[in-house]
Amino acid sequence: MPGIVIVGAQWGDEGKGKVTDVLAERADVVVRFQGGNNAGHTIVRDGREYKFHLIPSGILHPDKTCVIGNGVVLDPRVLLSEIDSLKRAGVSVGNLRISANAHLIMPYHVLLDTAGETKLGKLSIGTTRRGIGPCYADKALRLGIRVQDLLDEKILRTKIRAALEPKQQALRELAVQRRRMRKESGEGRITEPVSVPDPRLDLHAMVEEHVSFGHRLEPLIADTAKVCWDALDNGRTVLFEGAQGTLLDLDHGTYPFVTSSNPIAGEACVGAGVGPTDIDEVWGIAKAYVTRVGAGPFPTELDDEIGERMVEAGREFGTTTGRRRRCGWLDLVALRYAVRINRMDALAITKLDVLSGLGPLRVAVRYRSKEGAVLDSFPYHQSILHSATPEYEELPGFDLDLTQVRSEADLPQEARDYLGFISEFVGVPIRLVSVGPGRDQVIWVDG
Ligand code: IMP
Repeated sequence: MPGIVIVGAQWGDEGKGKVTDVLAERADVVVRFQGGNNAGHTIVRDGREYKFHLIPSGILHPDKTCVIGNGVVLDPRVLLSEIDSLKRAGVSVGNLRISANAHLIMPYHVLLDTAGETKLGKLSIGTTRRGIGPCYADKALRLGIRVQDLLDEKILRTKIRAALEPKQQALRELAVQRRRMRKESGEGRITEPVSVPDPRLDLHAMVEEHVSFGHRLEPLIADTAKVCWDALDNGRTVLFEGAQGTLLDLDHGTYPFVTSSNPIAGEACVGAGVGPTDIDEVWGIAKAYVTRVGAGPFPTELDDEIGERMVEAGREFGTTTGRRRRCGWLDLVALRYAVRINRMDALAITKLDVLSGLGPLRVAVRYRSKEGAVLDSFPYHQSILHSATPEYEELPGFDLDLTQVRSEADLPQEARDYLGFISEFVGVPIRLVSVGPGRDQVIWVDG
């Protein structure tokens, strides 16, 4: 079974990195196909913690090829610093391949992300402010800068100039806004006139810096679709690693509180350059409860002591921004929706250990609209979802510390019943359960 896709089944942060790391043992190639350094995985290996934002988690396996696919948006500064820190930790990046067609997050994308959020005020999305939205917008506008452009100074200069042109007004407004904010915060005496350009936007400096990034990245740049085809055609296993989660999908998530890419299984084909029939299996990763960072609807959110205990026990702070994650009970209405959108074959449930001592456990099995209608499926209408209240099934909890459990048989009956209820409700088998951050803290579940 050569093509396996791994996707997040909730709002991201489900623990995909760890599951990819575990499944990568059976794979030859690991490919990231969308998103950028808005993502963050923490992987604990032999007691050492590794944080990744761009590089596929498979990099810790020296015999695997790791691919950054064409669907990814890549901040070269972040990538190079990740490469450097891996090298310092003694991890080789010789097997990393970067798509020549991936788009680059440029300094102006990062500035415009913040500017957009500030402008939205109370309506802001709560983005990671890493330039993701503006970069994908430029890609769609055909004003994007691609990895291959780093290798030709003349083309690079022409393209950056063209991309900057329509943004001048917004960037000028941003400069004024920043100046005002610095003044209001009493930050020193601001002497420079408003017309002084932001040094990060100097065309000459930007081109020079990016040409030097190109020199460093050149040996890793490749036709990555072909890397995938060759592996698949030779019967090798390719893991397609999604970032974020289904409910953050630009088309199928809780728009507009979503990311600007498609973190669902269908995107593995577009973002890596393979065909739908190259995919043999889709794995969805879901936490045993739910978390969300940033703004947007979250029907099962807990604003109480239990939510607080989930934050503490689950160490629910973002890898990328350090933001505290919102926590809530497992939402099976949303999970069933994610199962269908991705047509999942299997589920991995992560952080089951965090629920220890939080019983009785609740799982949302339907919503009720504000007019009182029963909603058995995930509402497609934004206003309905915003005002829907969940209705729960209550299941017995468990108190045993699960972090040392390694087999299904050693799980308390209540934990097995909890997993059984999830699997039955969404109609997909649970194949893997994670009970701690370490790569050995997993339970494989039979048939
Ligand atoms: P952006 O992707 O930075 O544009 O942010 C859009 C929304 O997606 C915000 O609510 C972010 O908090 C959320 N988001 C983006 N990346 C991740 C992730 O890796 N995990 C969880 N949430 C994310």
